[in-house]
Amino acid sequence: MKKGLYFIVILFVAFSCREGDLVDTEYNPTPYIVEGTEYLGPFPVPPDNQLTHEGIKLGQHLFYDPILSANNSMSCASCHLPEKAFTDGNAVSVGIDGIAGIRSAMSLVNAAYFTKGLFWDGRSDNLEEQALLPVEDEIELHHNWGDVIEEFKEHPTYPQMFREAFGIEDKEEIRKELAAKALAQFQRIIISGNSKFDRVNNGIGAFNEEQFVGLETFFDVNPLIADGECGHCHNDPLFTTNQYFDNGIQDAKTLTEYTDIGLANVTNRNLDYGKMRAPTLRNIELTAPYMHDGRFQTLEEVVEHYSKGGHATPNRDPLIRELGFSEEQKTGLVAFMKALTDTSYLDNPYVRNPFK
Ligand code: HEC
Ligand code: HEC
Repeated sequence: MKKGLYFIVILFVAFSCREGDLVDTEYNPTPYIVEGTEYLGPFPVPPDNQLTHEGIKLGQHLFYDPILSANNSMSCASCHLPEKAFTDGNAVSVGIDGIAGIRSAMSLVNAAYFTKGLFWDGRSDNLEEQALLPVEDEIELHHNWGDVIEEFKEHPTYPQMFREAFGIEDKEEIRKELAAKALAQFQRIIISGNSKFDRVNNGIGAFNEEQFVGLETFFDVNPLIADGECGHCHNDPLFTTNQYFDNGIQDAKTLTEYTDIGLANVTNRNLDYGKMRAPTLRNIELTAPYMHDGRFQTLEEVVEHYSKGGHATPNRDPLIRELGFSEEQKTGLVAFMKALTDTSYLDNPYVRNPFK
């Protein structure tokens, strides 16, 4: 009887003092209220990954921390720079080993709204799933999650931050899925909905002449000038439908000539060869060079492409054809796209680099 009691006491002491225990740190997450979405509307949040200050803060640190790369040289932010609307300014991105990928880094602004697949070809379903990929991608961070998790466990602050965000009771409960959830939370709060375009829509200020001609062309609202057709694929309010199209940029006369088959990677259908997700045009001024392979340096070149209609590829969308814009329309379209710039997301301290 007495022996049994000792045993329980020893067990209790051993249990409460075991290495890795985090219960001394408080777990009381505060819901995060997203701001700046008045014009954009609400976005979906997975029931098992609600936004909290603690989750976002953890995600913010992970996003900017080179701990996620094999040689501690790169973080997510190396290819997704906040001041460039989270792109990197390169035609295609280069990873930790100096090897170039085949595609251009995508903007993460308003990513919460990209609900019909992520990446140019839509091969990832959501931000939680996507966040697992760059760490082990051989031409990106080229690390492995097993080692990253071990580094988290030994880190002076991450174990507590995982506890505050997700309520784990022991370091051993740190999982890559929790890191991915935090990264997803961080990305969901990068909101941009206060550009000149939004302000004019809210009755504040007005477009200048150039911007107005651009708007008329973009949304096909003036029967006296050539239609731009842009708004069908890059529609208001996100300036993307999140749908996939072939906009005639690849010089492919047959299916086999597409250098990047895009959506067909995922669906395997002939009809999807060369289709890419139409990207948002919000903050497009900041994300040069353009298209999935960064082939165009300027917005003027992009507009010239749409004016001429590009290549007659097998899957080119009917909206992409020789539209023949006037010079006024070309300058107008560029001016209108620049009216979609809004960097107020940088004012949110949760969005910026926490290590600076
Ligand atoms: C070496 C550069 C590089 C690094 C590092 C990197 N990315 Fe990316 N990211 C890219 C490129 C390139 C694409 C487009 C790839 C494609 O479509 O195949 C992309 C696409 C994305 C997308 C899809 C966006 C959309 O609109 O569909 C998300 C989300 C994303 N990255 C988040 C992250 C996160 C989170 C990290 C860190 C864990 C990260 N990236 C690290 C280059 C990088
Ligand atoms: C049929 C749908 C469609 C129409 C119409 C269309 N686009 Fe696009 N747009 C796309 C797709 C798809 C891409 C990405 C293609 C790629 O990279 O392979 C794209 C890419 C872009 C890009 C580069 C985005 C980036 O992040 O690199 C800009 C800028 C752009 N379009 C502007 C316009 C303008 C301006 C118009 C009207 C003159 C227009 N688009 C009409 C589907 C369309």
